[in-house]
Amino acid sequence: MNERLVLLSGATGYIGGRLLKALEAQGRRVRCLARHPEFLCRRVAAGTEVVAGDVTDAASLAPAFRGVDTAVYLVHSMQHGSAFAGRDREAARCFSAAARAAGVRRLLYLGGLGDDRQVLSDHLRSRHEVGEVLRAAGVPVLEFRASIILGSGSLSFELIRALVERLPAMITPRWVEVIAQPIAIEDVLAYLLAGLDLPLPEHRLFEIGGADRVSYGDIMREYARQRGLKRLMLPVPVLTPKLSSLWLGLVTPVYAPVGRILVDSLRHETVVRDPAALDVFPVRPRGIREAIAAALRNEDHEFAQTRWSDALSAVRPRRDWGERALATAWWTRELCR
Ligand SMILES: NC(=O)c1ccc[n+]([C@@H]2O[C@H](COP(=O)([O-])OP(=O)(O)OC[C@H]3O[C@@H](n4cnc5c(N)ncnc54)[C@H](OP(=O)(O)O)[C@@H]3O)[C@@H](O)[C@H]2O)c1
Repeated sequence: MNERLVLLSGATGYIGGRLLKALEAQGRRVRCLARHPEFLCRRVAAGTEVVAGDVTDAASLAPAFRGVDTAVYLVHSMQHGSAFAGRDREAARCFSAAARAAGVRRLLYLGGLGDDRQVLSDHLRSRHEVGEVLRAAGVPVLEFRASIILGSGSLSFELIRALVERLPAMITPRWVEVIAQPIAIEDVLAYLLAGLDLPLPEHRLFEIGGADRVSYGDIMREYARQRGLKRLMLPVPVLTPKLSSLWLGLVTPVYAPVGRILVDSLRHETVVRDPAALDVFPVRPRGIREAIAAALRNEDHEFAQTRWSDALSAVRPRRDWGERALATAWWTRELCR
């Protein structure tokens, strides 16, 4: 067993939940910080601690950080709608101040890709700002930036799945042809795990991405191909981000509140411009074909592990939603209560 204690925030969410299982499989000492520990307690391995805490509540963080070597930050506040950026700033400030006070050796954070030289969407700008706020406290921060994460249960993947599964023909906004560099959840986890042990005297930022640069349309076409679905896409140049988020809300109501914030980011290319991660880490990320195949192959198993809708704040169940996977997720969760 690795004796260094890892504090994991966001363990009820998609990435955090998958990372928790990977940390436990490696025999790491883990303490999860959760707003609703009663939900998480039943899902952790023997030896994993779960403590109550909210990253915006400094008083709850001091005891959670006691004895911690490395703290992992996998939290966002998009569930709070338009107020998310201010809340995320405050949360990052509280978290990093508590880490500093406790003498934590390093912070690990997963944010989003996007070119800072452009005027970014509120969501991407906020993801970058969180990294800056974490660094300001002085504890060395290892930040990874990723585009969309392909895996069963990831919000961005589930949005794509919902659109392709539901619509035999779709009018597609211009952002469908914007280029991204999606990465498989397995590769993200490999980077995060390797990041725990990387010698890190100072802040480092790594852009990570899969082997392919593709458009969102390409991802949808590949998903449809692997599912044996014939899908027609009719591009409409005039669909603005506002209209396209309304469209998304109509087609995929479960995702609407968070999805609308994400859609605004889809107009930006999210590709790796600095390939340093490939030199520093032994990870060789796969392409979308393999990533989607893995997601489809593992989906029942992975859904049983985590999905973004587990993040308690994200769940706004709608009974009129018929998509199989989410329905399964919702009922599984209800039955586990
Ligand atoms: N999914 C992707 O495609 C993707 C792509 C690139 C980067 N990322 C980054 O990965 C990170 C994790 O994303 P995710 O997809 O795993 O998100 P997620 O599934 O929505 O989970 C968010 C987590 O944050 C927790 N949280 C929110 N507010 C909190 C608070 N005030 N105190 C404590 N915990 C709080 C939630 O806990 P509750 O259960 O209490 O709500 C939940 O565990 C984010 O930084 C995101 O930007 C994700």
